[in-house]
Amino acid sequence: MGWKLFISTHFDLKEEFQLDHLVKIGKSDVTTGPLGLGTNKVGGHNLFDGLKDENGVAVVKAALNDGISLLDTAFMYGLGKSEELIGDVIQDYDRSKIVIASKAAQDPNNDLKPNNDPKFLKKSVDEALERLNTDYIDIFYIHFPDDRTPKAEAVNALAEEKKAGKIRAIGVSNFSLDQIKEANADGQVDVVENHYSLVHRQAEKEVFSYLKDNNISFIPYLPLAMGLLTGKYGKNDASKFSKFSAEEFSGIIDSLGRVKTIADKHQATVAQIILAWYIANPDISVVIPGARIPEQVDSNAKALDVKLSEAEFDEIDQLF
Ligand SMILES: NC(=O)c1ccc[n+]([C@@H]2O[C@H](COP(=O)([O-])OP(=O)(O)OC[C@H]3O[C@@H](n4cnc5c(N)ncnc54)[C@H](OP(=O)(O)O)[C@@H]3O)[C@@H](O)[C@H]2O)c1
Repeated sequence: MGWKLFISTHFDLKEEFQLDHLVKIGKSDVTTGPLGLGTNKVGGHNLFDGLKDENGVAVVKAALNDGISLLDTAFMYGLGKSEELIGDVIQDYDRSKIVIASKAAQDPNNDLKPNNDPKFLKKSVDEALERLNTDYIDIFYIHFPDDRTPKAEAVNALAEEKKAGKIRAIGVSNFSLDQIKEANADGQVDVVENHYSLVHRQAEKEVFSYLKDNNISFIPYLPLAMGLLTGKYGKNDASKFSKFSAEEFSGIIDSLGRVKTIADKHQATVAQIILAWYIANPDISVVIPGARIPEQVDSNAKALDVKLSEAEFDEIDQLF
């Protein structure tokens, strides 16, 4: 009952604000549209084979040209390369309209093991600012927790960077509920970025209620389950998604068939319907699908035009 009521209020709001509805990030003054861009395939040569920098540049430009403001990057994507490519592109755009989110923790001097030491985090912010060729970073995340630094101390280091105007909002990523609570001891965490999608829903039970109660935004990563939720794979592709059992995978493909029927009604793609579901979901702040080529960005951006009915929203919710 509470859930339905909340959704329907949300739908009223969405109706009212339509495409330009803005999302506020935690307690910060950062606002952004509800659809962003994930950039691990922009320069992320250490993570993916066959990437081309020129595609990465075109992907970022396509997003900004489509009015997508939030760019989600990290030191880890190409060990600085993704930030550098984004830094080059944004010089030709109005910086005040772009929301840059970056992350650090992997220590290049220690086999990329997580390091949350306050000095390391502050140095990481400075280095990211240089690579991004900008004066401030809108959201800065601790990318992974380490096992020795008290979380509140790590967050305090970022709070000092916030006070100094180098960053505008504080995030943590890949933190468990207990780690989030520890990090947020002084109420300074604005946003959590953790793994979540329609086929990976643990965060709903684990962290959503704490985040809601503490005014912390949630940004899911891998929202398209690495392409699976675009509907471009079929039952023969099970081996590409080994984390699912054969039965689970087959069920997901069947569910995507039903999403395709909804998509056809909207003259939309499966990916657009899935993204529209996240955009309409009050527990989700910004959805950041990644892209390999600009055509994917242009297509995904059209998810903002899709208005799911409450019945369609509920059906998709139950399908997975
Ligand atoms: N904080 C963290 O630890 C963490 C971890 C992982 C990711 N992230 C962030 O989250 C973002 C999103 O995750 P993700 O990019 O790994 O996965 P994702 O958003 O679930 O999937 C993106 C991939 O799906 C395919 N795709 C996207 N749109 C498509 C379309 N319209 N049609 C067909 N295929 C399409 C593309 O790959 P192909 O063309 O290659 O199939 C694209 O790279 C990342 O980019 C990154 O910024 C954060």
